[in-house]
Amino acid sequence: MKYFIITGTSKGLGEAIAEQLIHPNHHLFCISRTINTKLITKAKTMDGKLNYFEFDLNNVQQIGELMKEIFHQIDLNEAEAIYLINNAGIVTPIKPIDKADHEEVIANIQVNLIAPMLLTSSFIQLTESFSQEKRIYNISSGAGKKPYYGWSAYSSAKAGIDMFTQCVGIEQEERHSTVKIISVAPGVVETNMQEAIRSTDIEDFIYKERFVQMKEQGTLQTPEAAAKKLVHIFLHEELQNGQVIDIRDFSFEN
Ligand SMILES: NC(=O)c1ccc[n+]([C@@H]2O[C@H](COP(=O)([O-])OP(=O)(O)OC[C@H]3O[C@@H](n4cnc5c(N)ncnc54)[C@H](OP(=O)(O)O)[C@@H]3O)[C@@H](O)[C@H]2O)c1
Repeated sequence: MKYFIITGTSKGLGEAIAEQLIHPNHHLFCISRTINTKLITKAKTMDGKLNYFEFDLNNVQQIGELMKEIFHQIDLNEAEAIYLINNAGIVTPIKPIDKADHEEVIANIQVNLIAPMLLTSSFIQLTESFSQEKRIYNISSGAGKKPYYGWSAYSSAKAGIDMFTQCVGIEQEERHSTVKIISVAPGVVETNMQEAIRSTDIEDFIYKERFVQMKEQGTLQTPEAAAKKLVHIFLHEELQNGQVIDIRDFSFEN
């Protein structure tokens, strides 16, 4: 059995990733604030195992307990591989930092950066006795490499997750661990996040028109297409520990 712990599975990219991973030999642990009954039903019909955790990743103090609860349901003796996919994310606040509500800035860094850091920490601790494949994939963004007006919290969190990935990659390599951690930017994907970006006031996000045009020109990826590429990377690509990649740099066969 392969185990997958995936955050942000109620919609968007996370939902599409989880859907594509449903398989009789896979056991999924899905985490988001809203339960996704469509995924639960699909898992039942396809004879896949799936447990849903309605959990708010702003509750960072509870993340250790959540991970212990998940690992109680993982049989390390019969596991072939264990994956953690840190996908949940929020783009808000979209506005210059002096106009941003402090609570929104805190939530952004908690969900995009602190939660994946703590999930990673628990994952490494709780899999210590498991010597087979252990993989952590952090869903990052091009915004972590390039500054955007109005996205200071989001871009900082994504730059942080890229650097965190590289640091943990070095730690795991130096300690000859079998944990491999990768940060992957998915490209631009048509999800609720893009809708939120397109509906922002232009004074708060001066690049808004560029995102409106991408939608009008039909250049956005569907969540399903982006998830297909990501799942291929998760299951088939051998990457270097701590590597930071962008799916736009890979060529995929159809
Ligand atoms: N869409 C893009 O163009 C794009 C581009 C680059 C990177 N990304 C990255 O891709 C990932 C997925 O984004 P998306 O576009 O699919 O966004 P989305 O459609 O808005 O979905 C975000 C997911 O994260 C979950 N989430 C948000 N806040 C949470 C919280 N406090 N606790 C638990 N779960 C929470 C949401 O579930 P609930 O609301 O039910 O909690 C939802 O399932 C993010 O990391 C994002 O930064 C997206």
